[in-house]
Amino acid sequence: MKTVMHLLLALVLPLAAPASAAAQPIDSRIVVRADQPGARIDPNIYGQFVEHLGRGVYEGIWVGRDSPIPNVRGIRSDVVAALRKIRVPLVRWPGGCFGELYHWRDAVGPQAERPVGVNTAWGDEPETNAFGSLEFMDFLGQIGAQPFLSINVASGSPAEAQAWLQYLTGPAGSGPGRLRASHGHAEPFKIPFIGVGNETWGCGGNMTAEYYADIYRQYVSVLKSYGTLVAADANSDDYGWTETLLKRALYRHATATPLAYISKNPQISMLGLHFYVFAGNDWTRKSPAVGFGEADWAMALDRAQRMEDMVSRHAAVMDRYDPERRIGLSVNEWGTWWATDPARPSNLQQQTTLRDAVIAGLTLNIFQNHAERVRMANLAQMVNVLQAMILTRGEQMLVTPTYHVFDLYQVHQGGTSLPVQLSAPDYVFGDVKLPALSVSASRGEGGAIHLSIVNLDPQRPARIVVDVRGQAVSAASGRAITAPAIDARPDFDAADPLVPVALRTLAVEQGALHVTVPAKSVTMLEIR
Ligand code: AHR
Repeated sequence: MKTVMHLLLALVLPLAAPASAAAQPIDSRIVVRADQPGARIDPNIYGQFVEHLGRGVYEGIWVGRDSPIPNVRGIRSDVVAALRKIRVPLVRWPGGCFGELYHWRDAVGPQAERPVGVNTAWGDEPETNAFGSLEFMDFLGQIGAQPFLSINVASGSPAEAQAWLQYLTGPAGSGPGRLRASHGHAEPFKIPFIGVGNETWGCGGNMTAEYYADIYRQYVSVLKSYGTLVAADANSDDYGWTETLLKRALYRHATATPLAYISKNPQISMLGLHFYVFAGNDWTRKSPAVGFGEADWAMALDRAQRMEDMVSRHAAVMDRYDPERRIGLSVNEWGTWWATDPARPSNLQQQTTLRDAVIAGLTLNIFQNHAERVRMANLAQMVNVLQAMILTRGEQMLVTPTYHVFDLYQVHQGGTSLPVQLSAPDYVFGDVKLPALSVSASRGEGGAIHLSIVNLDPQRPARIVVDVRGQAVSAASGRAITAPAIDARPDFDAADPLVPVALRTLAVEQGALHVTVPAKSVTMLEIR
């Protein structure tokens, strides 16, 4: 069988770069603990984020009913079809920093009567308000996703937020419901998730944690009956933010003394976290999106790997206040942020490459390995912005390497997470030293185990023995994303070089799986 393995490996080598072909494979071992099932993987960690920013909404999603681009009620059909395929569970909208300037009433009712505003968050571009609440809900209906509304705390008010929720959820017989019905939608909507502000330490009001915690308490009293409230977001490794929110706002206090609770029902159901990846830790020096070298590759992966530390440490703070784990961590902005087009910097449009795919796989593995706490995540952003899933150019559309990762990983949605033990050498480049592999596993309803493996090393394939404890292994199959160049990317005018391909370098031998994954790759295995 070993000989067959080697033959198969030879067949698959064209997947790897010429340099990788010469490199010695990494030898490693993965133990999947099917005998120790963990938490359910919340499908909402596959959530997306859409903001009125650059071409994210206008052109990316909304083209208008009269557009020559095929659309249903103004929403482009090619984008909808691509998103349906990967089962997007929920979408956060309308921002981001834009959300902190958003006044929902400007974007409801007859299109011709909507005022044109200015998007002062992003380049002072005109905001036509053509895509408002009902268009957003229509878009969600078309792709089959749930809404996660981000409420304007910085320039809005509890009254405005409450009126918005009444407009969306009120029965058709109520005043707000009647208004909605007059705008064409009699049936009330459900809004399962409500974000109370965005980055309230920054563009969302420039608040201290203490001040925001008190504001949050005020919003709770107004919004709590409408949906699950998500408290606004710690900035990366600001564990003090999380601590202060939990200390001051988790419970409704009878007095100013935090321990004198009048209720033990948490007022915070989810806590946000925002974290972006660039090459290094300096916002002001971003890597080019393409044409970068291995130094940028390694530094970006090093920063991406910090998500592990961040999730663990925010979760550790939460464990102290919420040992029963009733509160979820919502990583509601994450993704890569490369140098943007100097001609239109506020568009935040970037090309995404194999590097983005590897970062997506690595990050999703981290979320899944913390499934007991991470219950929601929103990639920034869905179309034409930052680590987009989809890029459009006029009537053309392409799916990105990140989209392919979400496509491969969708089998994890709703699965039972399984602990994974990994023995692998490090990937070392310059000052960067990281485990060369990142893995996570789950068991689906039908009993199959899905194991995702990311190989961070851009030169060396990884030869892996997978040992599954507690479940017999009789067959396996896999698909992988890789390409010869570290910045391989799709192009509107060429075939996509990053479409996942069947992995042929795998065999089951005496109950264990032997698999070789290519250098710089994301692989999904199905083990039966
Ligand atoms: O995703 C782009 C911006 O990044 C969002 O508007 C803001 O919340 C974050 O700083």
